[in-house]
Amino acid sequence: MKAAFSKETERPPIWMMRQAGRFMPEYWEIKNKYSFLEMCKTPELAADVTMLPVDLLDIDAAILFSDILVTAEAMGGDLSFTQGIGPKFANPVRNQNDIDQLSVEVTDKLQYVADAIKVIQQRLNGRIPLIGFAGAPFTVMSYLVEGGSSKDFKLTKLMLHNHPEMAHSLLAKIAKVTTNYLNLQIEAGVNAVQIFDSWALALSWDDYREFSHRYITEIINNLNRKDIPVISFCKGSSVFAPIMAEAKPDVISVDWNADLLDIKKRLPVQMAVQGNLDPHILYADQKVIKDRIHKLFERMRGQNGFICNLGHGIMPDIPFDNVKYAVEVVKEFRY
Ligand code: CP3
Repeated sequence: MKAAFSKETERPPIWMMRQAGRFMPEYWEIKNKYSFLEMCKTPELAADVTMLPVDLLDIDAAILFSDILVTAEAMGGDLSFTQGIGPKFANPVRNQNDIDQLSVEVTDKLQYVADAIKVIQQRLNGRIPLIGFAGAPFTVMSYLVEGGSSKDFKLTKLMLHNHPEMAHSLLAKIAKVTTNYLNLQIEAGVNAVQIFDSWALALSWDDYREFSHRYITEIINNLNRKDIPVISFCKGSSVFAPIMAEAKPDVISVDWNADLLDIKKRLPVQMAVQGNLDPHILYADQKVIKDRIHKLFERMRGQNGFICNLGHGIMPDIPFDNVKYAVEVVKEFRY
């Protein structure tokens, strides 16, 4: 929390995107018994999974176990997750009529997330902060329009380019839902929130501003922030960081393409950065892992607003021991 607000820390704190998931044998023990959505929707199970990296990795922050697509599901998306394929919407959103069918008043349907947050906070008992999250409108839109994951976002970008007013009506609906959803999480007791715009890198500079940044700004402006730091993540942040900063998050989470100090220096003084290790270093030999972490920390020496993380999520086949080792290296470090 100190690092998020650019206050001094004795070492950089660490958490990792996708820290609760398939690289953990203990995750599979739960996953083999329930579907992914059942895990998200059952507060006790969501809490069990959230706590795995807290107990097994001794990480500095927990992140709510859920998914960015629960907002789209609550709006009317017929969502399923299939092993090896990923998320699928059986009723993709392709025209104005599909958009008109989507509901906006859906906070009640997401109450299970608030319930999970309360269980998790009881279990954490103040030990470390809990990060809540939501998907950014553009990224959530891409799943609704494509009907699942995509390599080129062809249909989504076609909607932006040929039918911008249609795209805006969809993005505006998602932004409204996302604002209410994050405020529900804040009300339920999360200590920070992160907005994930994983596929922003598919957009040109101007399209990022018009179709992504605009809605993230609207969400951040309407959060009951109080003392809750807002972390803005996108893949593409190496390029878009100056625009992202205009939305005034407390922290910008940076992918691994950029020099983190260089990005930090181009941001307002009190804006923190998070990142930006290449997740692939966690496949490498432990001496490489240690070396890359120390190199990043030396680069960031003297910078208060710095949270150590990966530039994107942990891959499912990364060795658990390497993730644990990385956390140990960070926790032993002192400036
Ligand atoms: O980081 C965490 O540990 C918290 C939980 C979390 C999950 N998804 C759990 C999950 C978070 C923060 C997310 C966010 C999310 N979901 C994003 C943004 C972050 C990113 O990685 O870019 C996106 C794009 C999604 C959509 C999504 N959910 C996809 C594409 C997939 C399939 C992934 C794949 O590699 O197959 C999911 C499923 C998902 N979400 C899993 C987990 C642990 C795997 C589900 C399983 O057990 O099979």
